[in-house]
Amino acid sequence: LMNLDSLVVHFAALRLIQLVAQGQLDMEGALTARDRVGIQDFVLLDETTEAAFLSNLKKRFSKDLIYTYIGTLLVSVNPYKELDIYNKKQMEVYMGVNFFELPPHIYALADNAYQTMLTEYNNHFILISGESGAGKTEASKKILQYYAVTCPSTTLLNTVRDKMLMSNPVLEAFGNAKTLKNDNSSRFGKYMDIQFDSQGDAVGGHILNYLLEKSRVVHQNHGERNFHIFYQLVEGGEDDLLHELGLEKDAQHYNYLTQGECAIVSSINDRNDWKTVKNALQIINIDEINTNHLFGIVASVLHLGNVQFDSDSKGHALLNNNTELRWVSNLLGVDAQSLQEGLTYRKIEARTDQVLSPFTIDHAIYARDALAKAIYGQTFTWLVNRINESMENKDPSRKTVIGLLDIYGFEVFYVNSFEQFCINYCNEKLQQLFIQLTLKAEQEEYEAEDIEWEPVQFFNNKIICDLVEERHRGIISILDEECLRPGDATDLTFLERLEDKMGNHPHFVTHKLADKMTRKTLERGDFRLLHYAGEVTYCVVGKRNQNLICQSKNAIVRECFATVDPDSRRRPETVATQFKSSLLKLTEILMAKEAWYIRCLKSNESKQPGQFDEALIRHQVKYLGLMEHLRVRRAGFAYRRKYDVFLKRYKPLCPATWPHWRGVPADGVEVLVQHLGYLPYEYKMGRTKIFIRHPRTLYATEDAYEKCKHELGKTTKIETCWRGVQARKEREKRAWAVKVIKKFIKGYMTRGQAKCTDNSEYLAFVRQNYLNRLKNTLPKTVLDKTTWQSPPAVLTETSELLRKLHYRLMVRKYVRGITPQRKFQLKLLTSSIFKGKKESYPQSVAQPFVDTRININIRVLQMIRNEHIKYSIPVIKYDRKGFKPRPRQLILTQTAAYVIEEAKIKQRVLYTSLKGISVSNLTDSIIVFHITCEDPKQKGDLVMQCDHLFEFLTKLCVIANKQNAVKVVQGSIKIEIQAGKESAVDFTTGQEPMVYKAKNGHLMVTAHVPNTDNNDHLVE
Ligand SMILES: Nc1ncnc2c1ncn2[C@@H]1O[C@H](COP(=O)(O)OP(=O)(O)OP(=O)(O)O)[C@@H](O)[C@H]1O
Ligand SMILES: [Mg+2]
Repeated sequence: LMNLDSLVVHFAALRLIQLVAQGQLDMEGALTARDRVGIQDFVLLDETTEAAFLSNLKKRFSKDLIYTYIGTLLVSVNPYKELDIYNKKQMEVYMGVNFFELPPHIYALADNAYQTMLTEYNNHFILISGESGAGKTEASKKILQYYAVTCPSTTLLNTVRDKMLMSNPVLEAFGNAKTLKNDNSSRFGKYMDIQFDSQGDAVGGHILNYLLEKSRVVHQNHGERNFHIFYQLVEGGEDDLLHELGLEKDAQHYNYLTQGECAIVSSINDRNDWKTVKNALQIINIDEINTNHLFGIVASVLHLGNVQFDSDSKGHALLNNNTELRWVSNLLGVDAQSLQEGLTYRKIEARTDQVLSPFTIDHAIYARDALAKAIYGQTFTWLVNRINESMENKDPSRKTVIGLLDIYGFEVFYVNSFEQFCINYCNEKLQQLFIQLTLKAEQEEYEAEDIEWEPVQFFNNKIICDLVEERHRGIISILDEECLRPGDATDLTFLERLEDKMGNHPHFVTHKLADKMTRKTLERGDFRLLHYAGEVTYCVVGKRNQNLICQSKNAIVRECFATVDPDSRRRPETVATQFKSSLLKLTEILMAKEAWYIRCLKSNESKQPGQFDEALIRHQVKYLGLMEHLRVRRAGFAYRRKYDVFLKRYKPLCPATWPHWRGVPADGVEVLVQHLGYLPYEYKMGRTKIFIRHPRTLYATEDAYEKCKHELGKTTKIETCWRGVQARKEREKRAWAVKVIKKFIKGYMTRGQAKCTDNSEYLAFVRQNYLNRLKNTLPKTVLDKTTWQSPPAVLTETSELLRKLHYRLMVRKYVRGITPQRKFQLKLLTSSIFKGKKESYPQSVAQPFVDTRININIRVLQMIRNEHIKYSIPVIKYDRKGFKPRPRQLILTQTAAYVIEEAKIKQRVLYTSLKGISVSNLTDSIIVFHITCEDPKQKGDLVMQCDHLFEFLTKLCVIANKQNAVKVVQGSIKIEIQAGKESAVDFTTGQEPMVYKAKNGHLMVTAHVPNTDNNDHLVE
């Protein structure tokens, strides 16, 4: 009972939720309004300048709006703080919602790619680029989480999902490291396919890895670390394990871990991460043996790093009884002797036999490091393969994929090495891919929408891609030739070859080729490429490559190097060529898919929240080619929307389209834009979309809409107020009801007690209720002694009194009803005239007499108004000639009897002229009036039939004082048809009562034979 109040409140809350649900659009509106800081889509910038771009970005960043679109491309600025925009609720908001309806978000992009994949049943990829620390890996993880939460799932799929999610910590342990720019910097490029079945379930995955930064294994810059896994093992590894691997629990002990002088940093918890990684390895199905081999390799690299060389008198490198070497040989399962030889001698192949040439210490260290890098690099690849095996979906049914490409953006340093060259080349290729795909998509859209294609002005970077990769002429080909050329190839001869071949290429400059001004900025050993994103100067030193090969008993190592035949005389591929072909493959993979882009920007170098380093961001905007991207998107038409979407938003702006446009949306849009005064060149009407050339046109429309919305808002406000009033009324009503119900229940509980405040109303209600019921169910006759409502306790006495009263009343009514004095006297008169004389008399006794039997016509009333009307009755009159029956009315007044036909008086019989009345002794109801012939107005005797014969004649006797004039005749009644002409009414009995003219000219009446037995008692 007490909860009723809270129930009412609960109800109100429910109603509120319902209202909000109904007003979902309002919510979207609110969100959009919140997000209306700057512009959500750069395409709508009025001027496409870098300054305008940056200012918009900054405005949004200051309000923690880190996402902005360029069309469907997402620009993301690293906030360096946790934002509350990645929870499950947010995910649900973005699920299945049109891309442009909500504020920009990475979920919107992920969802849109997913929905498009489902509806169009094709493949997609999301390219995430940006410089180190910009948030690429975080972005890819957010996308993966979005799919993990929002895609449909089963237990089976959940394991695939777990594997996909868990591949991240493993790959990050082996492939990420702390750098100056990012504490968790991915040092490899990663492309991950997520495979979906036709229902949209994530059913499998596949990873491709690119260009692991192996040099980090043996060397780290100041303030940087080696790959996380080394520190995790040394810091977090269990004592037993470390003992088995011959490792000290101290990172400082290892040369490969200490060069950056920051082995331990507060921002990284290696011990916790170790646990995560071990757990993740289990989830991705790496068994214990392989896990041990894996850590064996990691340990062997650490031991290798600690291998020191002595030198003999000739300066040759020596390795004597080295414990570290033995650990390496042990852990990798390779022969210690050959390992030692491999590290200190160079094998020179002559025609018939091999010659061993000793290394100097420098060479030996180079060989040692090369071995470490090779082992680690191959192990990384092995790991990726194992992850792929565990995520593989073997079901052959067709699947669609969404690929996630997390790859470094342009890198520009003071000294740019070979690795930067590869990275920038990769970006050049991806830009080329973007141009091709975007233009292709634009062209296809124009074609689909039946809009004429207009050439777009933009810089096509194909010329730079060619400069790098063209066969026989590109930089990579020349590098290959130089590396594999017999004889003394040096870095400088390589540069000369480049100058020879590229001499007048517009995007290639060296010291020698440059003009005076540029020459000042170029060293002699450098070359400069004019990338699409800007100029980058590369140093040629160390660009050539060496390969080192090994044999092993460690299963992983053996597997890793199995494909490489150590005796092969085939020219090995250089790293650049390998990279080029893997990029080519990637391009092929991506070209077959639909592209989505995320460009990540770093807000500042110091990883601080809320800092917007304008110079740094300008630099990134440039190198990520955002302005170029914007230009391609803006070429032609800046804005396009489906007709229905456009109409839905802007229809309030035109009277013809507001509030409803009944026709086709396209026509509605045409009417609308005409009304708004769009000029013909400002827009084009496609098949399904309107294309608007300049953002300013759209902005004018949007401004008008804002104003109009304000007006509409007032209407909405009134509506809201009204709803509020209604809701309050409803609430009051319910509160009142609660009170009444409470009182009722309390009254019920105290109903047996004496009257008090608690029960007085209840008892009043009970009383009224009982009396009402009683009123409707009172017994109807005195004989009914059972029908009486049983009373509630409070009314027992009242009920008894009422019962007595009611019965008394009924008896009185009955008695009154059956003894009306006058009627009784009339009946006595009837009896005195007819009893024992007419056969139908006994049946008539029980029938009460009534005062009168018909309503008299108003005209007749007027004609005889002077005479007092006493009685009236319908009769059938028989004509004198031919005895035709005619329905008539008979009226008895004080002085005469009238025969009436509707409004006409047919005959008036003065009582004084009425000399006799005859009836038969049978059951018939024929009456004959004998009328004196002296009266010239009379036409003869009147023959009638009357259903209420006894009543009629009794009344007539009383009114006209004719008791003695009535005769009951047997057999036949003589009648005078007219003066001197006689006829008769003959009576007989039969089964069927009949009245007809007989052949003898008399009226023949057949009366029904009565059942005298039954009626005898009534006569008494
Ligand atoms: N959306 C975000 N919200 C909050 N913090 C972020 C976000 N994105 C990135 N960060 C922060 O920035 C750091 C670097 O991000 P991330 O590792 O994704 O960079 P990256 O672009 O992958 O760099 P690299 O090229 O070095 O791998 C993260 O560790 C995190 O602290
Ligand atoms: Mg990363």
